[in-house]
Amino acid sequence: MSQSTSKNHLPGDLTRAEAVARMIRVDHAGEYGATRIYAGQLRVLGRGPKAEVLRHMLEQEQAHRSTFEELVIKHRVRPTALLPLWHVAGYALGAITAALGERAAMACTVAVEEAIDEHYRSQSAALGEDEAELRDTIEKFRAEELEHRDIGLANEAELAPAYRLLTAAIKQGCKVAIAVSERI
Ligand SMILES: [Fe+2]
Ligand SMILES: [Fe+2]
Repeated sequence: MSQSTSKNHLPGDLTRAEAVARMIRVDHAGEYGATRIYAGQLRVLGRGPKAEVLRHMLEQEQAHRSTFEELVIKHRVRPTALLPLWHVAGYALGAITAALGERAAMACTVAVEEAIDEHYRSQSAALGEDEAELRDTIEKFRAEELEHRDIGLANEAELAPAYRLLTAAIKQGCKVAIAVSERI
């Protein structure tokens, strides 16, 4: 993707707008899914020793989600048609990993947040000065997703049973979810 800084808002603009719309659509979907994952984890672990840290991450995801809800309206983006799926799948992913144990829940966080970091990193690189505001938002959120990953690692994610298999499967799932939520 070219880094357009042109003041000419004519021919290429539609493509540019559609590219930005796709970014907002998928990021809105992802942040929506993230709130559901942490809600699912809290359903299972909400009374345990990890509740506070999970609530902290949920609160940040809710702020991310609200921002993208505002951007969806501001940029007149059609939200993904798959929100009902992410509603259920996100919650299920959170609840199931939490049921496997605190470490598996943290492994889920590491996998998801790593996938989102890569995703935000590539979006940020594709955005030019024309979209500096969106780029700054993405960079701010990316820093918080990395904080979440570090929280997962600090809470023994890597000691979860089948850590490598679990995180690889979840990361792959995230990549599929990202690819379809950009378009559908
Ligand atoms: Fe987030
Ligand atoms: Fe996050």
